[in-house]
Amino acid sequence: MTAASPAGIVVRPAGRLRGTPSLPGDKSISHRALLLALLAEGESRISAAGDGADVRSTAGAIEALGARVERLREADGRVDYRVTSPGGDALTEPEAVLDCGNSGTTTRLLAGLLAGRELFAVLDGDASLRRRPMARVVEPLRAMGAQIAGRRAGTLLPLAVTGRTRLRPIDHATPVPSAQVKSAILLAALAGDGETRVTEAVATRDHTERMLRARSVAVDEATREDGWHVVTLAGPARPIAVDETVPSDPSAAAFWLVAGAIHPDAEIRLPAVSTNPTRRAIIDILRRMGASIEESAIAGPGGPDGEPLADLVVRSSELRGIDIGPAEVAAAIDEIPVLTLAGAVASGITRIRGASELRHKESDRIAGIAAGLTALGVDVRIAGDDIEIRGGRRLTGAGTETLDDHRLAMTFAIAGLIAEGETVIDRPGSAAISYPGFFRDLEGVRA
Ligand code: S3P
Repeated sequence: MTAASPAGIVVRPAGRLRGTPSLPGDKSISHRALLLALLAEGESRISAAGDGADVRSTAGAIEALGARVERLREADGRVDYRVTSPGGDALTEPEAVLDCGNSGTTTRLLAGLLAGRELFAVLDGDASLRRRPMARVVEPLRAMGAQIAGRRAGTLLPLAVTGRTRLRPIDHATPVPSAQVKSAILLAALAGDGETRVTEAVATRDHTERMLRARSVAVDEATREDGWHVVTLAGPARPIAVDETVPSDPSAAAFWLVAGAIHPDAEIRLPAVSTNPTRRAIIDILRRMGASIEESAIAGPGGPDGEPLADLVVRSSELRGIDIGPAEVAAAIDEIPVLTLAGAVASGITRIRGASELRHKESDRIAGIAAGLTALGVDVRIAGDDIEIRGGRRLTGAGTETLDDHRLAMTFAIAGLIAEGETVIDRPGSAAISYPGFFRDLEGVRA
């Protein structure tokens, strides 16, 4: 049973888990679909987008920049949008600060988009977003010719962006693997005067590249001899308006993949999840731990550049601990919190190495995981940016601190399904950042 209490939500152990959660539309794709609809002149329909607070922040921002945004239909944490835009060359200078809320993707991708438009805009967000590092986008965008001012020499929000067209093309190697940085530069490169190149040590999620191609913008990708991944876009280029159906979010599916694998009596179905090679690491890592995950590929609507999709079924599994290195951490960056829970239940030791980026998410997720799992009786040790979990102990319900971070709130709620006694999730409302129907689905699967 799950109950609201003044301290938060109380989650009690479930006898069995069955059913089909209503997954939200993929958050990364939803953001990009809205931003590209703003740049494309005319009407774009976006079906089954995620309706979490982060995507709503992006919808609000594109409206302030001159797009007409209509919510045609909403159900089960998804929304169908119709966006009508004057196009990227005719944006409106926003009258007020663009409020990015809690959303790093909104902020960084918008900074890139605005860098190449002749207007002035200010980006701001909540207390968590104001702590997150922005130099990683500000520096390359300044190198392209945008003027950006911000707190602490432009490293923190609020950021004031004065963009201009015909930006200088750059050749940028991203020191930290980040799809947000890569995407910000690619969106700026649309207003570039020539070829812009982004090189990354690990190929991060490639939605921007796929979605630009589907909108008639050529984006080249190559793997260098040393394994680095190179993405090239020649500007100026204008994306055309297209319709998009957003697949189920693999990062939301991750909570149920872990829940099903760690619970002794479980079978959970997850339809039409994106199995994009740059997003599917969670499936492959869990399988390496011994998880039973059935995957049936299905045809998607998107053509050659659309997302590969699959129906997934996860069943109770005997997990064993594994080593997860920095490249896998980058590939499963949003799923690491819930993966640590799989590690806690697995036999043996799970080691996660090189997870420093987790300290720069909506909260310091290394600290948040360590505190929450320790409260639940898990043996978790942190050494620098490495996490070591000695698995196999019985979890005991306790109060957990979510640090207002959606992925921590959902991780501890899933833990509550198998922990003895009551697990209390403080401030559980943050789940609505990416998965507004999460607690309803938590009830649904135990029915
Ligand atoms: C995202 C990229 C990742 C991820 C975030 C969404 C995106 O961030 O953590 O939730 O949509 O591009 P980084 O690029 O900062 O790693």
